[in-house]
Amino acid sequence: MDQPELIVADAPSEQPILRLRGLSTSFNTHDGVVTAVQDVDLDVMRGECLGIVGESGSGKSVTFASVMGLIKAPGKIVGGSILLDGLELTSLGPKAMRKLRGKQIAMTMQDALTALNPSMTVETQLCEAIMAHDEDISSLPRRQQSRRARECAIEMMTLVGIPSPAKRLKEYPHQFSGGMRQRIMIAIALACKPRLLIADEPTTALDVTIQAQVLELIAELRATLGMSVVLITHDLGVVAEQCDRIVVMYAGQVMETGTADEVIGNPRHPYTRGLLGSMPRLEDPETPIRPIPGMVPSLINFPTQCRFYSRCERRQEACLAEIPVRVHSPGHSVRCLFPETER
Ligand SMILES: Nc1ncnc2c1ncn2[C@@H]1O[C@H](COP(=O)(O)OP(=O)(O)O)[C@@H](O)[C@H]1O
Ligand SMILES: [Mg+2]
Repeated sequence: MDQPELIVADAPSEQPILRLRGLSTSFNTHDGVVTAVQDVDLDVMRGECLGIVGESGSGKSVTFASVMGLIKAPGKIVGGSILLDGLELTSLGPKAMRKLRGKQIAMTMQDALTALNPSMTVETQLCEAIMAHDEDISSLPRRQQSRRARECAIEMMTLVGIPSPAKRLKEYPHQFSGGMRQRIMIAIALACKPRLLIADEPTTALDVTIQAQVLELIAELRATLGMSVVLITHDLGVVAEQCDRIVVMYAGQVMETGTADEVIGNPRHPYTRGLLGSMPRLEDPETPIRPIPGMVPSLINFPTQCRFYSRCERRQEACLAEIPVRVHSPGHSVRCLFPETER
């Protein structure tokens, strides 16, 4: 399959479809304030596939739940800007956000089994999404609405490769395998042909063959529908294959951003290098896997310092201060005072 043309992030005329600047989201808990997302800057360019990687707890899901307007108390967006095609989302009310969700941006959730309603058939859930967001259908006379929505649901099921769609529409989520459930989530997300699809760990719960099929499906849809895609995963191997550019997150912050080739071929942040070192390499099975020692720190009342400090081999006293993001080369930036050198 032909890949769509790569869109260069730095082209000055290009306006990103999504632009985050200084986005911070925190949760007020009994034990203190968890700054789950802090000062995140990122751009999603039109037609590109942007990969978001980082260990579990890095703030990947919270960042994009913030974009979708899905952060609920005790969580709150505490700062920054979210521009969708130039429109500021942080100042939109819930009603306006509901209108944008589905039509403009859609997100598939990490866990398809809990995100889908277990007591409703797939048909009900898909048709509900279609009727809520597709104005062509919701403006039809009532009797025609459900028939048209059902036709559209069958089209979506076919598009995501679910065999015997008319029959399977009558079934409940638990009657589908994990891979098929992810496809249903994607079908619901795509029901209104969003311009930006956010896929949160679409393959994490799946075995390797099904994983490849779901990724291929997303790549195909991106090419045929011209969507922009944000692919969230903890697996660098997946982003290396699928994405034009990569954003590496750790403990709520963006640590490194660049083209997939740069970030994987020439990682500058010690965390990115650590992630790469902890991946098994098929082409070089002799190289030992080196997991990053330690764990993602608790983010409760986290002090102002490098968030990777406690696990970093290159740390110095200067890292116990606020660390700015520095541009390393055009399109490649790193939040580190002592970045790695060329390999
Ligand atoms: N409802 C919540 N209450 C308190 N903390 C939360 C809540 N949701 C997420 N967090 C915290 O936000 C951080 C980032 O979570 P998340 O975005 O889900 O990580 P990722 O998707 O990268 O695995 C974690 O430390 C998590 O504990
Ligand atoms: Mg997550």
